Amino acid sequence: MFHPKLFENRNVVVTGAGRGIGLEVARQFLDCGARVAVHTGRSKSRDLPDFLLTAEADRRAVLISGDFSEPGGTATFAWKVLDAFGTIHVLVNNAGTMVGRFPAGELTDQDYEVVTRLNQTSVVEVTRALLPALRAAKGAAIVNTVSISALTGGSPGSAIYSASKAFVSTYSKALARELAPDMIRVNCVSPGTIETDFHERYSSREKLEATRKTIPLQRLGTSEDCAPAYLFLAAPSLAGYITGQVLEINGGQLIC
Ligand SMILES: NC(=O)c1ccc[n+]([C@@H]2O[C@H](COP(=O)([O-])OP(=O)(O)OC[C@H]3O[C@@H](n4cnc5c(N)ncnc54)[C@H](OP(=O)(O)O)[C@@H]3O)[C@@H](O)[C@H]2O)c1
Repeated sequence: MFHPKLFENRNVVVTGAGRGIGLEVARQFLDCGARVAVHTGRSKSRDLPDFLLTAEADRRAVLISGDFSEPGGTATFAWKVLDAFGTIHVLVNNAGTMVGRFPAGELTDQDYEVVTRLNQTSVVEVTRALLPALRAAKGAAIVNTVSISALTGGSPGSAIYSASKAFVSTYSKALARELAPDMIRVNCVSPGTIETDFHERYSSREKLEATRKTIPLQRLGTSEDCAPAYLFLAAPSLAGYITGQVLEINGGQLIC
């Protein structure tokens, strides 16, 4: 694993970190000495692992809940983050989900709005609100979670979700150029099929097994497979000359 002081005295924000990939990313940043503003998801009462509660008690973590689909949800979250951190060295925009599978002809305006608001609009809003604090770090990094489906289009019923991830991928590349003069690097991590609660909701066991067989490394991914990519891209000492890139973590599921 990375050096335990890699992010010492660094302020890190991770959204969607109450479970799944984001939770493991937050854990590894804490293990490397960072202070972490952990967006725990929508619910205040969600059961959180002991390491997060201990880090909160030790003042190394600030736990903030909030629904990014609600009006004002991202603004309230950003306000709480800025109350905790004047300067932000790393922002990980990871909160997101498919919401549901919506066949193209049955998609309602509300379905479309909910999927795009969470997976793309919230990324733009959180980034914009935290930008002054990222600029103040004079050497910050943004790492956005996208998806293999941004390139492949995903599977039936995931068109808007997949397109929203492609939006974030392109948005990140544009920001990489625009924010380079502010010494802010912007990159993405693109997970393949990762075993989290995400697929419990949207994919059957049969579908996952069929997918597994197509993966050259012959297994589905884990949050532990993904998290080091975020730390790598966030660390100026490791990835200081990398910006505008998408790192695919998929066991070879997509090689192009
Ligand atoms: N798992 C995969 O195979 C896979 C593949 C490609 C990309 N991804 C992406 O990876 C990221 C993490 O996914 P995961 O697999 O770790 O899924 P997960 O375990 O379902 O975690 C998703 C996180 O996003 C949060 N979130 C969902 N809806 C929200 C809302 N309306 N407002 C605020 N936060 C919300 C969740 O909070 P709650 O606890 O409140 O739901 C949770 O913390 C997502 O952006 C996802 O699209 C996942």
